[in-house]
Amino acid sequence: MLSRRRLFHVGLGAAVASCASLEKQSFGAGDRLQNPHPSLTASATAGFTSLAQVAARKNILYGAASDYAMLSSDAAFAAEYLENCAALVPENGLKWRALRPSPEQFDFTKSDWLFNFAETHNLAMRGHALVWHLSMPGWFKETVNRRNAESSLVRHIEAVAGRYAGKVHSWDVVNEAIEIPDGRSDGLRNTPWLEFLGEDYIDLSFRVAEQADPTALRVYNDYGLQYDTTSHNAKRGAALNLLERMQAKGTPIQAFGIQSHLRASETRFNAEKLRRFLRDIASMGLKILITELDVSDQGLPADLEDRDRRVADAYRAYLDVVLDEPAVIAVLTWGLSDRYTWLAEFKPREDGLPVRPLPLDENLERKLAWGAIAQAFDQAPAR
Ligand code: XIL
Repeated sequence: MLSRRRLFHVGLGAAVASCASLEKQSFGAGDRLQNPHPSLTASATAGFTSLAQVAARKNILYGAASDYAMLSSDAAFAAEYLENCAALVPENGLKWRALRPSPEQFDFTKSDWLFNFAETHNLAMRGHALVWHLSMPGWFKETVNRRNAESSLVRHIEAVAGRYAGKVHSWDVVNEAIEIPDGRSDGLRNTPWLEFLGEDYIDLSFRVAEQADPTALRVYNDYGLQYDTTSHNAKRGAALNLLERMQAKGTPIQAFGIQSHLRASETRFNAEKLRRFLRDIASMGLKILITELDVSDQGLPADLEDRDRRVADAYRAYLDVVLDEPAVIAVLTWGLSDRYTWLAEFKPREDGLPVRPLPLDENLERKLAWGAIAQAFDQAPAR
């Protein structure tokens, strides 16, 4: 088998091609893990060479969030990324703030680079996200008002989804529109779009997205849905209500994205409640994507081995439940390597140690989490 260094030297494109052929050879039945409950040791990763390849055997799409900055400048990371991923999720590169330097301008330089990278390396592209209250550029507040909100929203979706029409696997059309603490009876978040256009901004966004790019799967995406806590339980209820209202209106939604930012220290996990939620979504005829999976190690003891094991266990326990649901068609992690993770900034550890939430460590070595994810894919029912 080619070493990683050798893969890097033959070039990224060639590396992917050679991986694809290597996979075919290295996935004989003999390479499968025989033990149904293998312990999560480093040797548990033996026999698997790529997360995307293990997932693909069950018809599950695996990919990770990344961006222009790292993919264009960190060749070792890019090689590892291409070895493991079949889908590219621009972590920030398709948000308003990235694409809209001013009310009149669109800057597609870096996003075009990402689409080109995906096409060259045969990666599916995720579109994240057309509407998200947190990604708005500074000029938005001063410029958008009740009078021009609709045209501003429509123009953005038409321009962005239209530019990449036919090249996107799935668009997160609306992201994070539910916020129970905002106190509305419909559970919706008080965003400028809601204030200016009412609840119909959601329906409008999906309709315009459908017109601009009929081929991309249209997704509603949200977080805070997986645990057995008061807030997650309420949010699951509000999400199902929103989906019902959307379907009653004929909103062209096709899939539901569960972000899945997990906490390794969280014990309030009720598999049955989660299974029921997934079933409820599936029985509405919708597909499900796990869109932003990562496992925070905030609050765990410093010991590295113990920490990595608990992070890996959290991945495994969660994936075992969600992959049982055949409507789940994709798993995307929010990053691939601890070298680049938003949690370093958003959920740092109190002891100041670097966080370790992703499948690869900061040196791009496979962690127990990598093996746990590979095993979960390997043992998932095929869809
Ligand atoms: C995060 C990115 O990872 C950060 O780099 C950025 O500063 C803020 O946004 N939910 C989402 C993602 O839908 O877009 C967020 O991404 C993480 C939470």
